[in-house]
Amino acid sequence: MNTDRLIIEGGRRLGGRIRVQGAKNSVLPIMAATVMCRGESRIDNVPELSDVATAISILRHLGAKVTREGSTLLVDASCLSAWDIPDGLMREMRSSVFFLGAILAACGKCEMSYPGGCELGPRPIDLHLAALRELGADIVDEGGRLTASSEGMHAGTVHLAFPSVGATENVMLAACAVPGLTRICNAAREPEIVNLQEFLRAAGARIHGAGTSVIEIEGGRSLHPARVRVMPDRIVAATWLCAAAAAGGDLLVEEATEDTIATVCASLRRAGVRLEAEAGGIRIRSEGRLRGGEVIRTQPYPGFPTDAQAILMAAMCPGDGVTIFVENIFDSRFRHVSELVRMGAHIRTEGRTAVVCGVRRLCGCEVCACDLRAGAALVVAALAAEGKSSIFRLDHIDRGYENMVQLLSDAGASICRTRA
Ligand code: EPU
Repeated sequence: MNTDRLIIEGGRRLGGRIRVQGAKNSVLPIMAATVMCRGESRIDNVPELSDVATAISILRHLGAKVTREGSTLLVDASCLSAWDIPDGLMREMRSSVFFLGAILAACGKCEMSYPGGCELGPRPIDLHLAALRELGADIVDEGGRLTASSEGMHAGTVHLAFPSVGATENVMLAACAVPGLTRICNAAREPEIVNLQEFLRAAGARIHGAGTSVIEIEGGRSLHPARVRVMPDRIVAATWLCAAAAAGGDLLVEEATEDTIATVCASLRRAGVRLEAEAGGIRIRSEGRLRGGEVIRTQPYPGFPTDAQAILMAAMCPGDGVTIFVENIFDSRFRHVSELVRMGAHIRTEGRTAVVCGVRRLCGCEVCACDLRAGAALVVAALAAEGKSSIFRLDHIDRGYENMVQLLSDAGASICRTRA
């Protein structure tokens, strides 16, 4: 296990500029989609993350050649030699389930282990399987192992019971190989899905509607290699904004776009922060003490993102007034609360609701990053706290944040990484 720690001396204002990396949740499905293209695809603005490394291992296991040139990833899937994902790799990254649709489209069959629970609670894939089965896929689930074949697949209309991001992506990918018109109703509308559509279109797929609730795919065309740029990571953008909001400062968050995190920006403004769109990003000015009073409810896009819930909560802890958070997407996404309480936050949870009463100050201490966004939340809290914090389980943070120490140091934070 990774024994590194982040040591943060809080209470310093942030200033200057900070860059937002390419989006983890965009690059992963795009990497899966490259297996459907016979030839070398290029993905630009690829962040260096452990989840990306896992996806590279999966691609290599499938027989693809993968090389990195700076922030560009070249994937040549001309000669695939496998259609399975070993259990070990599935366990490393449970969201790799969207390789199912891509491998089915590329190879006509796929075998992978069932993604079990994770730090966010159970991660069911019933919606993925129901949608693919509705389109005629034969999927056998035996002893935790899924074996799927696309032999009987046909085009048709799929109604998702919930706008699941992964299920939408899986159906988009699988349907590209199925002749005829497939329609996904109640599709997820996240910007990352639009980015995936951009790649598929560049590869010759006829697909439109991403970003709305109905996506249509005219499948059956073979795909050629394509090039795409990964969109900026809107949750990383939200993290840098919340960090500056809580610690105080004047920071330009480069590549942040307000339209992809409109709800987060609106909440920060209501909490007393100044945000302005500037050439190349969003400029934030904050005195560092936020004003509560809101009820934040996580929702599918364009609602408030579940991935920013912990991060905004951390920013609201040292402040005035009460803020209520209602987590509607995941069952178990308050694991940061006990760590924030250690730092002096006043938070009570009941079921899906957390009530945050602002306190005069947070105090640095030793805390555990229980999951990726919980880790980011603790970084935000530590930057605003008085004294020294030591954050461990950085393997979670490394899944989604590239070069965090350097970026925050350059913005004026006192932060370093040590080996315990
Ligand atoms: N769900 C089901 N059945 C399914 C699929 C989903 O019940 O078949 C439930 C999930 O258990 C969850 C909810 O529906 O309670 C939402 O799940 P969704 O499928 O939309 O999420 P996902 O595709 O598994 C992606 C992101 C997550 C992000 C969610 C919600 C990727 C790789 N992951 O997950 O990102 O939280 O959408 O926006 O795109 C993160 O980056 O920290 C992260 C967890």
